[in-house]
Amino acid sequence: MKNYSIYALPGDGIGAEVMAPALEVAAAAAERVGVRLEVNQGLVGGIAIDETGSPLPAETLQQAEAADAVLLGGVGGPKWDDLPTAERPEKGLLGLRQALGLFGNLRPALLFGPLAAASSLKSELVADLDILIIRELTGGIYFGEPRGVEIRDNERVGFNTLVYSEHEIERIARVGFELAQKRDRRLCSVDKANVLEVSQLWREIVTSVAADYPDVALSHMYVDNAAMQLVRAPKQFDVIVTGNMFGDILSDVAAMLTGSLGMLPSASLAATGVGLYEPVHGTAPDIAGQNIANPLAMILSVAMMYRYSLDQGEAADLIEGAVASVLQAGLRTADIHSGGEGETLVGTQAMADAVMEAFDGG
Ligand code: IPM
Ligand code: MG
Repeated sequence: MKNYSIYALPGDGIGAEVMAPALEVAAAAAERVGVRLEVNQGLVGGIAIDETGSPLPAETLQQAEAADAVLLGGVGGPKWDDLPTAERPEKGLLGLRQALGLFGNLRPALLFGPLAAASSLKSELVADLDILIIRELTGGIYFGEPRGVEIRDNERVGFNTLVYSEHEIERIARVGFELAQKRDRRLCSVDKANVLEVSQLWREIVTSVAADYPDVALSHMYVDNAAMQLVRAPKQFDVIVTGNMFGDILSDVAAMLTGSLGMLPSASLAATGVGLYEPVHGTAPDIAGQNIANPLAMILSVAMMYRYSLDQGEAADLIEGAVASVLQAGLRTADIHSGGEGETLVGTQAMADAVMEAFDGG
């Protein structure tokens, strides 16, 4: 029997609440397809600051590096909001992404049919929506130097640097083209080349990489237009590839199209080595501890883990199929509950339980 070691980092806010049931789903799926998961849990983010003084303890990084895959809930919350940038919970997640070389972030925005009414857009605009946003995750303005706040001419000035090198652009572009080849073969690269030099270089490199993928139709779009097009006619997109900050923003927009931020999973992949899987939603401190958070983004992240890190597509299909069927059956957490006929409002654990029951087609 194949044995995989999974490192789970629940983090803060609703992180722990969605992680626990997602791990149950992961274990149930493992049993179904005949593999064994060995799960270790660790600390990252605010809880790691409280318990160890650091948002990314050395132990956490070590365990993450040694695992076959890392699952992460979320980091951050009001309790740690007054800390300086370098000491915040978010630094734990960013440090992990950087240390593990997780440059390729896949954020699929897929609308499950029964949720069309939960979308903030008209149902016909989002019916059958299936977009993949690929976000560069270890470069750009998130990591660029110099950065800081300093005194210039008697006032404080804050600054960050948006920087991308040719090899960083080329490798994320290749991820985009390769995944587009497996889908509808349309890749839209999003930048701000009308203003930024770094975007001009981005556009030039992506265009030159396109020569290796003649079967993929490449287009370019400015980020402001892309944000507008995502809410105007989202189905025009197949795969979007973009930099770190633009991808952060556009993926929240895309998430909302699918009904709720509580539905979107993500995979963060390195050239080689461990992958990290996390929901796109944050820690939702306002609803933490109430058993009302939607666990489906975390559960769908587990499915992505099976597909991309463990090469167990059957387990991924099983989980995704079960999620589709509980939604079809009308189960809804509060975030996707429209009060329509045939809907049943359920809590976090009940939703996960239903997913596991649906493995039997029930
Ligand atoms: C995300 C989050 C993170 C990011 C935060 C928590 C650092 O918003 O994964 O989208 O900005 O990357
Ligand atoms: Mg974000």
